[in-house]
Amino acid sequence: MVYPDYPHLQQRRHYDYINIYPWLTDCKRLKDVGCGEASIDVMLSQTTDIKKFFLYDLSEHFLDSVWWKMWQNANYKTKRLDIAHKKVYPKSDVTLMLGVSIYIPDNDMLCDLLCRLNTKRLILRDPCAYKKSIFIDKYSERLDAKYSAYYRTAGELEGIIKKAGYKIIHKATCYPKRIESEYKSRQYYYVCEVEK
Ligand SMILES: C[S@@+](CC[C@H](N)C(=O)[O-])C[C@H]1O[C@@H](n2cnc3c(N)ncnc32)[C@H](O)[C@@H]1O
Repeated sequence: MVYPDYPHLQQRRHYDYINIYPWLTDCKRLKDVGCGEASIDVMLSQTTDIKKFFLYDLSEHFLDSVWWKMWQNANYKTKRLDIAHKKVYPKSDVTLMLGVSIYIPDNDMLCDLLCRLNTKRLILRDPCAYKKSIFIDKYSERLDAKYSAYYRTAGELEGIIKKAGYKIIHKATCYPKRIESEYKSRQYYYVCEVEK
């Protein structure tokens, strides 16, 4: 299994990095829930003073590829698990959740997960549907597999983030339109902090 051949992947990584990096000042412990191949964490391990990375994903295969890419001195831990069902997360300064909420279609389950993240700051990136939420559950020729995901509208996603007790301190579109999805969605970044 290889990481899906999403269009414009390298350019998107570049924008991911420049969107996330400014929000990591003073971050010593970082979690990435649904990290995939941990491409962002690999870049961060080489360019920041983050002391500890906690990396979680459902895919053993993706996690297996992490060790030879992380910066040689990076202190990191990988764990294969279903993030929606992990009860206790270690404390972190920042948690990344990038392109993952769409795979947790149940709003209450997503809200519960956000509540349990045990983080000061949450950086969430998700593709949002334009007008109405879209549920997709069908065979994808591009992936050569069944694809199931729930694309919320930005309003619906923001409602869940707030219900989970976060304040959205920054919202931005992630990518220039030329490298956006050809489907009816737009990716947003949310930087959120726990409401005091
Ligand atoms: C679109 S990829 C994003 C990967 C990475 N965050 C990035 O931005 O490059 C979505 C990832 O979420 C993982 N994932 C989806 N549902 C999950 C779940 N319930 N628990 C853990 N990982 C999950 C998938 O295995 C996949 O690696």
